[in-house]
Amino acid sequence: TDTRNIPALINKAETTHDLTKAEIVTLLTDTHYQAELFAAADRVRQKYVGDEVHLRGLIEFSNICKQNCLYCGLRRDNKQVRRYRLEPDVIIDFAVKAQSYGYRTVVLQSGEDECFDVDKMVYIIKKIKDLDMAITLSVGEKSREVYRQYREAGADRYLLRIETTDKELYERLDPGMSWDNRVRCLNDLKELGYELGTGCMVGIPGQTIESLADDVLFFKKIDADMIGIGPFIPNPDTPLAGESGGTFELSTKVMAMTRLLLPDINIPATTAMESLNPQGRVLALQRGANVVMPNVTEGEYRQMYLLYPGKICINDTPAHCRSCITGKIQSIGRRVSETHGYRARRAQQS
Ligand code: SAM
Ligand code: SF4
Ligand code: FES
Repeated sequence: TDTRNIPALINKAETTHDLTKAEIVTLLTDTHYQAELFAAADRVRQKYVGDEVHLRGLIEFSNICKQNCLYCGLRRDNKQVRRYRLEPDVIIDFAVKAQSYGYRTVVLQSGEDECFDVDKMVYIIKKIKDLDMAITLSVGEKSREVYRQYREAGADRYLLRIETTDKELYERLDPGMSWDNRVRCLNDLKELGYELGTGCMVGIPGQTIESLADDVLFFKKIDADMIGIGPFIPNPDTPLAGESGGTFELSTKVMAMTRLLLPDINIPATTAMESLNPQGRVLALQRGANVVMPNVTEGEYRQMYLLYPGKICINDTPAHCRSCITGKIQSIGRRVSETHGYRARRAQQS
């Protein structure tokens, strides 16, 4: 490919935060100027959201799921998983501990577990809000009315990855689910006033660079407040066992592109990135990311929430992860934020 235009394209992305699909494809395909792309994303991160890193304490409260996504270790047909769900008061206790580690946000994540009905969730949300913590939910597709009740109870943010904007691919990988309904969920969440988190996996079988470019444009169009991107990592206990997964490099390129085009959003350095590269989160923080989500789930549950093999921290304690990640952040001259870490919306200047 002709690489003469690449530096100019990177400069355009850095200064206008606006590229065409063809330009995004060119940058994602290029391999000669990757370091320049990452450096530009790092400058945009510094300029718009600063050097602070926001930590979100992640509680994986149930690995029971009624869905059957082909890529995910928690899918309902995976009989190798020992299933668990935490009692509401245990979840609240983990949130109290998360607060004692200095985290100001908890992320409550689970499979789509019907046992957590609106009453249970509202109880949990209200109790955690009493701690003056921000709450992010990541519990899958619900009706607008259910999202409204969670929001009214005090939930601040919601994570629901679109996974891929290729509708046909999505519906092949998530049997029984509808891509249009996923978009409906995202629109409802936005309208209800949540900070909206979405994102994609990189390297799922059948995905193209063009489709990844569509993903980034979709994030911009839906005006996402947070974008989580991670490599697809094949799980041996799923139908995608034999597939090759995504790479660390391409995942961070898609992430860097997202920072360039959505300069003031929150972007996590994801667990899946570190699962492929022992320096993955630190590198991601230097390629556009400004958030880390350390696990605060305790005991044996960590090993049981296994989306993919090689997941980091499954034998570590919350206290260990807290000091580990703080050390990593400080080692690259960044600092841990003491705020709730809402999106720092800023006028997009060039
Ligand atoms: N059930 C909720 C949902 O699907 O939105 C939240 C939990 S789900 C386990 C969280 C994310 O894990 C998914 O959005 C998906 O992107 C990611 N994930 C699942 N399996 C994965 C795999 N094999 N490799 C990488 N990421 C995976
Ligand atoms: Fe369930 Fe979420 Fe895994 Fe799909 S990705 S099987 S909805 S936990
Ligand atoms: Fe868990 Fe480093 S963050 S061991």
